[in-house]
Amino acid sequence: MNILLLGSGGREHALAWKISSSPLCKQLYVAPGNAGTALCGNNVQLDMKDTQALADFALSADIGMVVVGPEDPLVNGLADYFRGHGRLRHILFVGPGAAGAKLEGSKAFAKGFMQRHQIPTAAYETFTKDTLEEGLAFIDRLQPPYVLKADGLAAGKGVIICSSKDEAHKVLNEMLCHSMFGKASNTVVIEEFLDGRELSAFVITDGNTYRMLPAAKDYKRVGEKDTGANTGGMGAVSPVPFAGRMLTDRIEERIIKPTIDGLKREMISYCGFLFFGLMVVDDNPYVIEYNVRLGDPEAEGILPRMDFDVVEMMRAACVSGLHAVNADISPRHALTVVLASGGYPGEYRKGFEINNTDKVDGSQLFYSGVKQENDRLLTNGGRVMAVTSLAATLEEAMDITYNNAMVIDFKGKYYRRDIGRDLL
Ligand code: AMP
Ligand code: GLY
Repeated sequence: MNILLLGSGGREHALAWKISSSPLCKQLYVAPGNAGTALCGNNVQLDMKDTQALADFALSADIGMVVVGPEDPLVNGLADYFRGHGRLRHILFVGPGAAGAKLEGSKAFAKGFMQRHQIPTAAYETFTKDTLEEGLAFIDRLQPPYVLKADGLAAGKGVIICSSKDEAHKVLNEMLCHSMFGKASNTVVIEEFLDGRELSAFVITDGNTYRMLPAAKDYKRVGEKDTGANTGGMGAVSPVPFAGRMLTDRIEERIIKPTIDGLKREMISYCGFLFFGLMVVDDNPYVIEYNVRLGDPEAEGILPRMDFDVVEMMRAACVSGLHAVNADISPRHALTVVLASGGYPGEYRKGFEINNTDKVDGSQLFYSGVKQENDRLLTNGGRVMAVTSLAATLEEAMDITYNNAMVIDFKGKYYRRDIGRDLL
């Protein structure tokens, strides 16, 4: 069948790379895509917000499956549109409707959902402009650090951790009364700080049953030893050595199963990927956030470990046949390092020529901020590309990835040199 993939990051290059290897994929289109997805299929210049244009294209290109990379189109109800229109209904759509996407689109909804279904998460309260005073008083009753979260989508920037009471008061005021994150911070969740190890768990689900995908550890801070500003993610490791059988069982029993059951009980149909952002405290997992998509850069680490046909798996999720498909996961270790533009996540420059990608040996490159101009590759974003290697051990995967990270050349190249080191 013909497949339309939406998105333009490294995650989408990794998805395009995996999808295009499936015998079930006749023609892959990616909208809008990037220089990496262009190597796996045809990029089409469509705006992900232009539902009508996407629908028209899907019909004209005889698309049989739509796969959505990022969360925005899902939160905005793209899946509902496709499922709700007779002329589009035959198209398999991978991604939840707006009701399911609220797990990511509204932190207040997600927290309420977890509370209703006894899913372990940090204690919290929700505030609006009208309850600012109560919010300030709530902060006074908590111990530092303070975790303040804008309710809505804020491009991954809506969580602020404050070390002092004064700072927390100021940030709460900015969020609620001065639109620090626009409408996204009209409601703010304040929650207990959890001190533990972060872990990203992934499933694909049809809303009834699910299959586990490889778990990963993401490195969110820009600086080595987890210092500096938060980013979209600077690297990933999969599998995660501290996520053994016992912890994985706890994650399934305490978090994944109650989440799928909760969706069913609330009559929220859900077909697609579901990403559990977890904090593990003394071997007990807590949900920090839900995402209704794969992570980036986690996708670049986990897709190469999926020893199965991801198109067959996604098709099964759309037709309630998940139990019947192969879901083998490679025992090999993936190490993904993001090469970024100097200055990211703050200001950075674009348009530098990227050289030596042809000299890369033993790693897979997934492009995010890369643009092709004639036969030159140019930097075109904060995160430029992810370098992933698979090997028998984490140490070996680190060696291969870091050798290649060194070889690739562009002005201002920055990457963390300690991805995976804490796990050796
Ligand atoms: P999020 O955007 O929800 O992923 O949050 C961004 C980052 O803030 C997470 O990756 C965590 O490192 C941190 N974080 C969020 N919630 C908490 C919490 N309750 N306790 C400690 N850290 C948190
Ligand atoms: N790497 C974290 C995310 O995709 O949200």
